[in-house]
Amino acid sequence: MTPEDAFFMIHDGLPREGPGEAADVAWAVDAAGTPAGARICDAGCGPGGDLEALLTAVPEGHVTAVDLHPDFVEAVAARRLDRVDARQGDMAQLSGPYDLIWSAGALYFLDVTDGLVAWRDALAEGGAVAFSQLCYLVPNPPDEVRTFWQRYPAMTDVAGVAGQVEAAGYETLATRVLSDAAWEAYYRPLEEQIAALRPGASAELAAVLDEEAVEIDLWRRHRRSFGYLLSVVRPA
Ligand SMILES: C[S@@+](CC[C@H](N)C(=O)[O-])C[C@H]1O[C@@H](n2cnc3c(N)ncnc32)[C@H](O)[C@@H]1O
Repeated sequence: MTPEDAFFMIHDGLPREGPGEAADVAWAVDAAGTPAGARICDAGCGPGGDLEALLTAVPEGHVTAVDLHPDFVEAVAARRLDRVDARQGDMAQLSGPYDLIWSAGALYFLDVTDGLVAWRDALAEGGAVAFSQLCYLVPNPPDEVRTFWQRYPAMTDVAGVAGQVEAAGYETLATRVLSDAAWEAYYRPLEEQIAALRPGASAELAAVLDEEAVEIDLWRRHRRSFGYLLSVVRPA
């Protein structure tokens, strides 16, 4: 079993692949001034954990859910949600036009600045992007936190994210830090999955289970020093 196989075994069937809650979606839709009939793209939708919240926040809108990973796209399509199309594809090449590009925990795959530049032409007139990005929340995070997140060398802080937005030629309309409840919505089901897979796990699987458990433990002990910043931005 490769580490990638183990990762997908652990993450199979999870409701979401990163922190988030319906309140974040409602807040972002409001902050962006998204109209009720908006065309929305959920870029890097994963298993589609935000789709119902998007449909509720934009009651006459339509959501195009895009992900590179075919299993996620099939899972979203199998839910047969009204007003949702699921598409397998590269979110670096969105065509639009979209009134809102929502991207929870996924823009970093493209690099924040590069991704925002790539999405500019996919936005409708007056359109906005809402994205969540892992970052440091305090000036001097504990060494343990910095050491752990060395696996993500691009990790910056709140001002750093703002600078990446500006460098893409966007202005920030509003930001907020995701709540503990948003993290629990991701970590609780993940913890249950880890516990279910522990008995009889191969060495390869156990190593990946350990790694996931370390991340959860780190967040529980140091949750005030790093988190997800949700930013609503639009071309300046
Ligand atoms: C951390 S997960 C977040 C998923 C989902 N937004 C959520 O909050 O549950 C990031 C997602 O981005 C997708 N992804 C990464 N690069 C991508 C790309 N270039 N185009 C489309 N999807 C991509 C991954 O397959 C994964 O599903």
